[in-house]
Amino acid sequence: MPPRIPLPLLNPSRRAAVTCEYRCGNACSHEAPNPSANEYLGDIVTSVINRRKALKAGAVVTFAASGVVGVGGAAVADEQRGRGTPGLNFERVQPNTLDAVVVPKGYEQAVVIRWGDPVLPGAPKFNFDKQTAAGQAKQFGYNCDFAALLPTHGGNQLLVTNHEYTSETFMFKGYKTDNPTEEQVKIGWAAHGLSVVEVEQVRGSGRLKPVIGRQNRRITMTTPFKITGPAAGSDLLKTSVDPTGTVALGTLNNCAGGVTPWGTILSGEENFNQYWANAGQTAEPVKSRAARYGITSGATSRKWERFDKRFDMVQEPNEVNRFGYVIELDPHDPESMPVKHTALGRFKHECANIRVARDGRVVAYSGDDERFEYLYKFVSKNKMRKGNSRTARRYNMTLLDEGTLYVARFTGDSPPSEIDGTGKLPSDKRFDGSGEWIPLASGNRSFVPGMTAEEVYVFTRLAADKVGATKMDRPEDVEASPKTGKVYVALSNNVERGVTPGKESATEPNPRNNNKHGQVLELTEHDPLSLRFTWWLFLVCGDPNDPNTYFAGFPKDQVSPISSPDNVAFDQYGNLWISTDSANALGINDGLYGVPVDGPERGNLKLFLTVPRGAETCGPIVQERLITVCVQHPGEVDGASAEKPASHWPDGGDSQPRPSVVAVWKPGRHGPMKIGS
Ligand code: FEO
Ligand code: CA
Repeated sequence: MPPRIPLPLLNPSRRAAVTCEYRCGNACSHEAPNPSANEYLGDIVTSVINRRKALKAGAVVTFAASGVVGVGGAAVADEQRGRGTPGLNFERVQPNTLDAVVVPKGYEQAVVIRWGDPVLPGAPKFNFDKQTAAGQAKQFGYNCDFAALLPTHGGNQLLVTNHEYTSETFMFKGYKTDNPTEEQVKIGWAAHGLSVVEVEQVRGSGRLKPVIGRQNRRITMTTPFKITGPAAGSDLLKTSVDPTGTVALGTLNNCAGGVTPWGTILSGEENFNQYWANAGQTAEPVKSRAARYGITSGATSRKWERFDKRFDMVQEPNEVNRFGYVIELDPHDPESMPVKHTALGRFKHECANIRVARDGRVVAYSGDDERFEYLYKFVSKNKMRKGNSRTARRYNMTLLDEGTLYVARFTGDSPPSEIDGTGKLPSDKRFDGSGEWIPLASGNRSFVPGMTAEEVYVFTRLAADKVGATKMDRPEDVEASPKTGKVYVALSNNVERGVTPGKESATEPNPRNNNKHGQVLELTEHDPLSLRFTWWLFLVCGDPNDPNTYFAGFPKDQVSPISSPDNVAFDQYGNLWISTDSANALGINDGLYGVPVDGPERGNLKLFLTVPRGAETCGPIVQERLITVCVQHPGEVDGASAEKPASHWPDGGDSQPRPSVVAVWKPGRHGPMKIGS
């Protein structure tokens, strides 16, 4: 039989096309913008063979269209298996396509805050049909993603949330894609950014009630950010409005993030490229640098360039260079100016998460979420000051401005001929190997031939191309286990691998061609400062019935199916929690899963909750007695719109869907019990 020729699908990841448009500017329907020739070590000879094999492979799995879905893996009755794993003793949720948040039996849930709910004093009551930009700037923004809960002195908590992107066809009735109004565009600017909201826990319950507190704050597209680190003030960052190159207005596409040990928030500016127009009409070198970041060659989808020239690359070629960073916000100080850390490089930052070395230096890990992009690590020069006083926070907020930026190179330990692109384990029964962190720049010193340090920080993708970094399957969230120090990396998928002509085929850390379901990588460093590591794929995701999935060797008839791992978090016991984006590649709603990474239950993945139709599970927080998740883009399915909503969550009836934060707890006689107890 001749090899099957892949159909030219516009949206091969099975994420709704409308999500692709608004979330990441149709990144999936364009070829991934990494054209570099740096091939994976040891994979050059076999890549053609692997590709041929992959085209012949690929099991076809079909699922029911609605309700509870019969994907393989654990049956309802397997729950005794989880006994003995503190934090994970709950009856697993069955995969489904319901328009609801589904939690384990015996658990309760409540919405904490929804798009449009008041954040600042004077915020108008949300009225879907009468939105204003001024109102939105005081209300909870759209499409919440990362979330953090930080204790306040008064005993409440601060809920800090990213608002990654706006979906205009779901936000406005009668929205004209080719001709948005100025007010709609300005509502979009105000609906991006972050929210800081004080929340009070209702006595005896897990319910969190928003409070209009003194520290409440909205960050939007007009909030000033101080640009810090070695590229601050560079000519590459100067614009007509800011000739100093040190103050940028706003933040965009904030995806995941992290809480620092000093009590601030880090947040990654991810698919910033989609907001800039007319890169195709710029001159070199602006044009090819823009292409490496996938910046739109013509008009943008939201047409912001019509209302502010900074979004037009012909008029302001450097404005886009002021986005694509890790930002840091001190939520405890509502007057403080947030910063953009250039020392961590500029790419589609999914997140940044911190580890502290024994000597007090801090290490930040960050993934560049696009197909064939890289994994990065930053090591600070200076040491963390203990305590969370305002003075200590001010000082510690400078730690990510001086240090060394590295990119990862992975090497597999199995013969390349055994990595056949299907996901079949090699003869050593593990996808594993070693790796190294390659330095890119440190302060004003560049380690990349032909690039200055400023160029490395602002065009980091180009720098990483030159040093032979390993192309990964969309590096998303990265977080170290507070218990073992092992670092977990969610790699969500890559349907171009081994399929698109000219693109790299399967490698041991990315072992499947046409990778629809992603993998979770476990990286072991002797010390956070180490420049070498070993690695092992902890999960090769998908339907457990698919022989080419892997759940750390745990019996697959007892695990939950999972696709497209995105955010990761740890509970107090050291269990890993994983939320998904695009589980609809398996025909099921996205969810939150818990899994032990140690002991006899290592790999026993359990589905804890699912989110409504069309939604994505984001920003999980796992506390001792409370779990919260952000329900992003409910109802965002193809063919739906504000006129024809596909979801009525959370308000029910014929209401419009609203992205929201949800709290989940296990009620007990004396208040919430321990999660998974
Ligand atoms: Fe915003 Fe990488 O997901
Ligand atoms: Ca191996």
